[in-house]
Amino acid sequence: MKVNSMKTRFSSSLPSRGMIVIPVLENKMKDEGLSGLDEKSDGAILRAVAAAGFKGKSGESLTIAGPAGFEEVVLVLMGVGKADALEDEDALNIGGKALALAKGKATEVAVMPAALEEEAFAKTDLAPQLCLGALLRAYDFDKYKKKTAPKDQTPLETFTVITDADEKALEDVSAIAEGVYLARDLVSEPPNVLFPESYATRCQALEKLGVEVKILDEAEMTKLGMGSLLGVGQGSIRESRLVTMNWQGGQKGEAPIALIGKGVTFDTGGISLKPGAGMEDMKFDMGGSAAVVGAMHALAARKAKANVVGLVGLVENMPGGNAQRPSDVVTSMSGQTIEILNTDAEGRLVLADVLTYAQKEFSPKAMVDLATLTGAIMISLAHEFGGLFSNNKDLSQELLQAATTSHEKLWEMPLTKTHDEMIKSPIADMKNIGPRWGGSSTAAAFIGRFVENETPWAHLDIAGMAWAEKDLDYCPKGATGYGVRLLDELVRSRYEG
Ligand code: BES
Ligand code: MN
Ligand code: ZN
Repeated sequence: MKVNSMKTRFSSSLPSRGMIVIPVLENKMKDEGLSGLDEKSDGAILRAVAAAGFKGKSGESLTIAGPAGFEEVVLVLMGVGKADALEDEDALNIGGKALALAKGKATEVAVMPAALEEEAFAKTDLAPQLCLGALLRAYDFDKYKKKTAPKDQTPLETFTVITDADEKALEDVSAIAEGVYLARDLVSEPPNVLFPESYATRCQALEKLGVEVKILDEAEMTKLGMGSLLGVGQGSIRESRLVTMNWQGGQKGEAPIALIGKGVTFDTGGISLKPGAGMEDMKFDMGGSAAVVGAMHALAARKAKANVVGLVGLVENMPGGNAQRPSDVVTSMSGQTIEILNTDAEGRLVLADVLTYAQKEFSPKAMVDLATLTGAIMISLAHEFGGLFSNNKDLSQELLQAATTSHEKLWEMPLTKTHDEMIKSPIADMKNIGPRWGGSSTAAAFIGRFVENETPWAHLDIAGMAWAEKDLDYCPKGATGYGVRLLDELVRSRYEG
């Protein structure tokens, strides 16, 4: 399978060229003789291990170039620490780290996981997860590096896992990796290139996979009464858009699950202008929508047996002569009125109308929205978890389980009547901000006011998760694509279990 330019494959035999990465457990090399490798090298490998004092601690690696029996191979022993400290997620971590070791050094890399004790990964499929970790680490957004950095001289062409497992397992892996790549591309694009209209055009490309895509322009949204969403975009010369992406892979006539994303292509704060320092980060304020688009790609690419509709609200939040003001009152599509007290609390205004539209148009069984909604969620959860808010215990349990399985972590946050009371307005049905404290919960409460008939709904505040400030084992610095694997897993467990 090929994502971008790197091919991933399974093979039962060791290659005779390139790099072979062998993840090894701490202080376990001698007992196992590295699954016969040492014998094949006439003892050269364990001699090198002894001479270098290599223990196999996590983070340690030992390169042995061209030992006996492997004349054209660079062997790299990669320490992974003690077996009992390994977790399921380490399958992804190890794949990603192996890729990072080989990057720029080899065109072909193989990982031989035989020296790992597979029991450590009882709950996960080791071989495909190694490939997924490698693919996710291999991502690079270099399309705008025309002259400054020459293209990688030694691009990785193949990543092979030495295993007897069936290569069929790689089909889903590449669908998921493609979805994550798409989400990362969308988040990485600068906002002068990716704005609502151009973004909508990119969504349209999903039609090739059998997704039905519909784009609403401002005239249509005006007719529908989406004063809340349109108010956010009115300060920008870029027109707003609402895109629906419908995947009908399940039973005919069965109500879909709706995945809804905040797609603020740039958030200056509007008239409640953000400070200049760090404002560039706000190109990732469409990270929730990117997760939805990426997930729709993954689901369609792997032909998921489920009915899923993705909806993204695309706007640019700019100050300008026609921008909305603090103290404006807008009427949402639901008919509820909103007093705008801070134009920087715009994401909830966008989501409000998208939620209403989703319910009117699709009567979904459940709704999950994703949004880089509040700075406050990072105060609570740093870059470790997305914040989960829900009106429904079953749905929140499902999501927490999907988060555990996909390793896109969530933590449940409170959403109560008191939070709802905190957004009462003296002149309208609600105001768009609460008091200083509990900002993520009042934001969730605001969105909750647009859920009708107790439809099961969950809101994921992913402000801390859309962007990585440093390289992670299976994600290079930059856009993470957070949410794609989580949503894919949610659909899988709900419909395909
Ligand atoms: N897009 C921001 C939230 C954000 C901040 C995401 C930093 C990622 C990193 C959102 O639109 C926003 O500005 N929220 C305000 C809300 C406040 C005005 C109530 C915030 O969190 O400060
Ligand atoms: Mn904002
Ligand atoms: Zn925002």
